[in-house]
Formats: sequence, C-alpha cells, structure tokens
Amino acid sequence: MRLTYLGHSCFLVETAKARLIIDPYLNDNPAARIKAADVQCDYILVSHGHEDHSGDALEIAKRCGATLIANYEIAEYFGAKGAKTHGMNPGGGHDFPFGRVKLTLAHHTSSHNAGLNPIYMGVPCGLILQADGRTLYHAGDTALFMDMQLIGRAGLDAALLPIGDNFTMGPDDALTALEFLKPKVAVPIHYNTWPPIAQDAGAFAARAAKAGHTVKVMKSGDTLDV
Ligand code: NI
Ligand code: MN
Repeated sequence: MRLTYLGHSCFLVETAKARLIIDPYLNDNPAARIKAADVQCDYILVSHGHEDHSGDALEIAKRCGATLIANYEIAEYFGAKGAKTHGMNPGGGHDFPFGRVKLTLAHHTSSHNAGLNPIYMGVPCGLILQADGRTLYHAGDTALFMDMQLIGRAGLDAALLPIGDNFTMGPDDALTALEFLKPKVAVPIHYNTWPPIAQDAGAFAARAAKAGHTVKVMKSGDTLDV
C-alpha cells in the first residue's frame, strides 16, 4: 500500500487492485501541489461533509467514474448530483474489490455550506482501510476519544492523525491518541493549511519519539510505503 500525501488531510492510496483518494481537497487547498484535474482514481473516501475534505469529490467522481464511499448522507448528497456512491455508517464495514473499508466514530461536526443554509451531511467519521494485508486508519477531523483504544485493536500499520488544534486534536491529545492506537507509523495531518491550525510537526514527531512512537512528517507530494 503506497500513500502519497497531497496536503491537509488528502492522500492518494495505491493498492494492488485500485487507486483511492481520501478527503479530496486540492483546488482550494493552499498546501496542494496538484489540482483535482490531475487525479486518477477508482474510489473516493470522504470522512465528513466539510469542504476541506470533500471539496473536489464530485469533480473527481464524475471525471474518473470513481465510486464515492462515505456515510449515508454524504453518499446520497453526491449521488443526487450524479456521482456513483456507496453509503455506509460508523461501525459498518464492507468488502470492496480492493479491500475492506470500515467507518469509525469521530467527534466533530459535518455539514456543507455551513453558513445560513447548512446542508446536513450526517455524522463525521474516521476510516479504517484494509488492503494488501495492511491496515490504515485515517482519523478524519476528530477530538481525542477513549474508543480509539478499540480502533487500535485492529492492529494499525499506519495512522493519519490531525494535530492542528482549534478544529481537531492538537499535538498533546494526538500524543495520547498514539498511546491508544499504537500504530507502527503515524503521519500528522490537518495542520499549517491556515494560521489557526499552525503547528510544528517536527516538534510533535520528536515528542512522539521520546514516548516510543514513530511519526513521519510528510510534505505535500511525499510518498510512504506501508
Ligand atoms: Ni471538518
Ligand atoms: Mn477539516
């Protein structure tokens, strides 16, 4: 399983049988080095409705004919706009041709157009992706929660964890998350995209190393084989 970090919370995941994009947000993403038009994939995984996780989902789904996998409300929303979708909900897993996806809890909010006329986009989720004998956890946007201990029982080869603070866990809580999840490697996400979530990922990695965890800081465009 090869991960390419595309900035913010967006990753391209290449498995033996399919290419997936998680939380597609490229065109308006200050940290992205490519645009939505540059992406080729078979599946799109969306953790929650906020535009910084789903902003380019429809464009990519339509152009690539990719199947969008997300909670029921997000799947119905994009389905009504013409995307091929597969709806799920937290606690549920499904076997796809490339492997298994299970949606997990996340403590956050989830809507589209969060101004005067917000559209309800179901509950926010995390994602567990199993493919090629590897298990990946993308936490989405979330606070720290005790049930991460249950997620860790899946035996995580890699965990993608927000550290930005303000909207999600900050570095202190992300360190506790590492204790709960015990991934072989963790990658910090959802930081430095805008000033309110500015963080020193290198300092976080150093603190994690002192506590016995492996954290890899990825720049936009970097790849990691899991
Ligand atoms: Ni969010
Ligand atoms: Mn976000």
